[in-house]
Amino acid sequence: MHILHVVGARPNLMKVAPVMSALKQYSRFRQTLIHTGQHYDTNMSDVFFQQLEIPVPDMNLGVGSGSHARQTAEIMTRFEPIILERKPDLVLVYGDVNSTVAAALVCAKLLVRVGHVEAGLRSFDRAMPEEINRLVTDQLADLLFTPSEDGDRNLAREGIAANKVHLVGNVMIDSLVRLLPAAMKQRLNGLPDRYVLVTLHRPANVDDDHNLKILLQSLLEVNSQLKVVFPVHPRTRQRIADFEFDASQLDLREPLPYIEFLALQRRATAVITDSGGIQEETTYLKVPCLTLRNNTERPVTVTMGTNVLVGQNGAGLRTELAKVLAGKQKSSAVPPLWDGHAGDRIAEFLDKL
Ligand code: UD1
Repeated sequence: MHILHVVGARPNLMKVAPVMSALKQYSRFRQTLIHTGQHYDTNMSDVFFQQLEIPVPDMNLGVGSGSHARQTAEIMTRFEPIILERKPDLVLVYGDVNSTVAAALVCAKLLVRVGHVEAGLRSFDRAMPEEINRLVTDQLADLLFTPSEDGDRNLAREGIAANKVHLVGNVMIDSLVRLLPAAMKQRLNGLPDRYVLVTLHRPANVDDDHNLKILLQSLLEVNSQLKVVFPVHPRTRQRIADFEFDASQLDLREPLPYIEFLALQRRATAVITDSGGIQEETTYLKVPCLTLRNNTERPVTVTMGTNVLVGQNGAGLRTELAKVLAGKQKSSAVPPLWDGHAGDRIAEFLDKL
């Protein structure tokens, strides 16, 4: 059975790694890996392949940046001939980025079976580009691998047949479990015992100068109490420069490799983020997470985990951070099947097909 995996952006990489590694244990699977090139900077892509031990892609489509329409169309145009030529039995797509939906659309039209890893997540906020990608990909997929039960419920509500949906757990946590020992060996030179780790890159937070200014001002305020360590996504770095904001008091860093970032998360007093995956990682690590959004497609991180939605205007952040600093952290648990074996469950399932 020939399985072709498609990745494009940084958060796809920690998801594909455990699935490829689990499938490798079975001789009946032949695997091909295609990188769309949506993310192309070394520290957004190459270094993750090395640390996560993902095989070198069989092909990189080199699509690069662009508007949503242009990027999605470019991926589709460059991906279609690959499917026609390589004729995979199944294509696996990951997460909710433009590469995910573009590849799923190409396959659906060529009648090639598609499996969606991390299916069923919903923020119910269609202003978020990822929500559109999730909705469309899940409608097109033949196999839907969900990380948590809320995903199964969302898919049932959208009329997706239950026999296509398989609750396997969280593949991103597989990578975390595997590399946590390496992260624990990392030295955090020059950092105080207590610090706050920040990431910020969502268009709703950084593309609008008013919103970005409010958030940066809140971070400067936090920084006066506790050191703020902030690895900056290229999109955010560009916006800070475009809007001529002075953020030089913050410890701004280049985007970090996986193991180094995990080491920083594990030891952080709190994490402030607008990322999706980090809400999950902090829940597993039991580190308080303050999410700069009004909604989340990962509600289990709020109901069971360490995550609190603090909105985008700074006030919620202030209140919730004060609680964490006063030691009033909410109690939390790790959701079921977030155990390091989600990739194994996908491979076992595919072996029985
Ligand atoms: C994408 C995903 C988002 C994910 C994020 C993680 C979509 C719709 N969004 O957002 O879900 O959380 O990746 O990083 O797919 N850039 C570089 N170098 C790179 C990549 C991007 O400089 O290697 C810059 C470019 O200026 C580009 C901008 O970042 O225009 C945004 O990149 P893009 O791939 O469009 O979306 P992300 O914001 O990274």
